[in-house]
Parts: sequence; C-alpha cells; structure tokens
Amino acid sequence: MKKEKIAVAYSGGLDTSVIVKWLQENYDAEVITVTGNLGQKKELVGVPEKAYKSGAKKVFMQDLTHEFVHEYIFPALKAGALYEHTYPMATSLGRPLLAKALVEVAKREKCTAVAHGCTGKGNDQVRFEVSVMALAPELKVIAPLREWEFKSREEEIAYCEKHGIPVKATKASPYSIDENIWGTSIECGILEDPMEVAPEDAYTRTVSPQNAPNKPAYVTIEFKSGVPVGLNEKKMDAVALIDKLNEIGGANGIGRLDLVENRLVGIKSREVYEAPAATILHFAHRELERLTLDKEVMHYKAKLSNDYADIIYNGTWFSPLRKALDGFVNETQKNVTGLVKVKLYKGNVEVAGRTSPYSLYDMKLATYTVEDTFDHKASEGFIKIYGLPLKTYNQVNKEKFAKVKKALKRKKK
Ligand code: ARG
Repeated sequence: MKKEKIAVAYSGGLDTSVIVKWLQENYDAEVITVTGNLGQKKELVGVPEKAYKSGAKKVFMQDLTHEFVHEYIFPALKAGALYEHTYPMATSLGRPLLAKALVEVAKREKCTAVAHGCTGKGNDQVRFEVSVMALAPELKVIAPLREWEFKSREEEIAYCEKHGIPVKATKASPYSIDENIWGTSIECGILEDPMEVAPEDAYTRTVSPQNAPNKPAYVTIEFKSGVPVGLNEKKMDAVALIDKLNEIGGANGIGRLDLVENRLVGIKSREVYEAPAATILHFAHRELERLTLDKEVMHYKAKLSNDYADIIYNGTWFSPLRKALDGFVNETQKNVTGLVKVKLYKGNVEVAGRTSPYSLYDMKLATYTVEDTFDHKASEGFIKIYGLPLKTYNQVNKEKFAKVKKALKRKKK
C-alpha cells in the first residue's frame, strides 16, 4: 500500500518537532514540513535542519510577511477590527494564512492530509481546520495534540532524545508565546491567575511605561485610502513601516494589553499582548476616520467592526461574509487619506494633529468667531420638530395620568 503523505505546519518548536516523528510512527506516513515567516523577529535559522533531523522528507520555508501585511493585517485595520474592543488579533490573523500556505504545498506535493500543533482547547485549532475545510475540503486534518499520549514537556523531551531529535538546552519559558509582526500573545504560568499583575519578564518587545524615556516621541503617519503608506513625510514600504512603529512604540511602552477574553470554545482565558505598531495604527486610523467619514457611515461602520473582529477571531476568514464586509469597508475607506501626528509618551498614544484633503471638518461652520457661517436661527425650527415626539409623549401621559388618578380616587370613596 502506498504510504500516506502528510504536510505539517512546522514552527521548529518542541511540539511540532515531536509531531514530525510521531506521524511517521503512528500513521506510517511520509512527512513534509511547511514553515511560514509572518515577520516575527525570532530567528528561523536552523529550522530546516531541525525539521530534517526530526525526520522530514521535504522541508519548505516561506516568507509570508508581505502577504500577511497587505492581505490580512490591512483589511483588519481598515475594518477597525479589535476583538472585544481590545485585541488587534496578531495570532488570529496569522492562522488562515499559515493554513493557506500549508494547503498550497499539500496540494502541490499530493498529500492526503495536513497536520498542525494546536492544542485541543484553544481557538487556533478551529481557525486552522476551518480554513483548511474552506480551501481544500478533500484534505484530512490531523491534530496530534488532541490524540497523543504525552502529558508533559518532559515526556516530549524524552521522546526527542530517544529519536535523536535535537532539543534546545535553554530553560523552558514559563509562558506560551506566539509572535509575528502584528504583535505577541503571551499566556500560561502566573498569567493564569487574573488577579496577578503580569511580571516584567512576560514582555519581550516593549519597555515598561515607567522606564520609557521622559521625553515624548512624535510620529506623523500618512494614510492613503485607509492604509499607512509613509512615516514622518517619507513614503515607506508597509513591512518596514510596521517594523519601525514596533520599534518606536516598544521603546515608549506602547501597546501592552492585559485581557480576560472569551474563547470560541467556551473558555474565559487571560492573555497578555504586546502590539506597539497595531495599537498606534488603529489609533491613528480611527482619528483620520473621525475627520473624513460621514457621521452615518462612521456610526454604522462601528457596528460592523465588531462583527468583522468576531469573524477573524472565530476563524471564518475565508467566508463569503468576510468578503462582503470587505466590500463595505473598502467603500468607506476611499477618502481615508491624510496625515495623523501622534504623541507617544510612557505607554500612551495621543493625537497631536490630523489633516486630510478630504476632511469634512469645515472651520467656517465650527468656529465661534466672526467668520461663522452657520445659520443660528435655523436651529430654532430644527429643535421644535426634533423634540416634538418627546414633548407630545410627556404631555399626553401627564394629562392621562391626572385623569386616571382622579378616577381611582373617586372609586375609593
Ligand atoms: N488568545 C489569542 C487568540 O486566540 C492568542 C492565542 C495563542 N496564544 C499563545 N500565547 N500561544 O488569538
């Protein structure tokens, strides 16, 4: 019988290294690894060698950073998508893209199945598998962590030693960390107690606001149709721009988030995030929308932002609803062009100025000086009609109540 061929989403970490060997043993399979770079700073050197040593037949490394930024991060930014009004979803946005890269290799290499290293109680397994189901319904998905017998890190390390898989001698971090260009997600260890403040050693890309410089940093961000295209009057490639904002933001203690969130699988979990660039860009983008969006569009879009965030968080990125919402969002972004100057100071982002060729702000209407062109008299008639329903409601009720009370009194007598 022909051997099963499985493509594994491989990070180079302990779990996925064990998976490579474990699939060979338990599925009698030929294993191919696929590793995607999403702009994380953690070095990917040595990953291919490790994959081979773990038993991979073929090893694929792909730089997905540009695609991640333009096709996943920017649509989410334009939509204003923050899960539970807070989390910019670095992890959630990465999963559908990694699944897509995995599926592409699996199809090309004629694999019968794909596998991933997500646990059985998280959101990531859902995002991964639902994405594969949407992109390649014919592919089987294997989730070894839901199946295998290992109960601890130590047992996995022992398995590696038995099979000659290299394990790093570094002390294991007490945290589970996922990182890419849009942010870092940190959980486990002491963070599992929501009453415990996150210790400094949980953070890797931001300084504590307390230790940030005593002088603010100013950055001017240029947007074109809802996406950032330049910094401080200089046009910039999107990846370089986000890297730069991560650096400046991180140095000023921007983007630390501490969140008790509702997972799709029904658990409340506490996670800490670091997302300097995402925090600054969402803030600046919102400021520019305040200037350029029509009131009704702006208010309506706020409702859709929540739905859009839920779609990303809940793993249905490749859905017709997300595409339809993109249609709406892109229409709203046509005039979201201009400059936003932000002040970064000890963990805070403040607006220090905004301007747009499509600004709807009319100084002549807003001013309290002699330049004023607003028709003050027109307000009188407007208020009369606008307040009429409330006036009528209360008048009628008062009269009715008076009559009813009188009638009741008479009855008692
Ligand atoms: N809670 C986040 C999400 O579901 C991040 C999950 C991964 N976190 C981690 N520390 N490995 O998107």
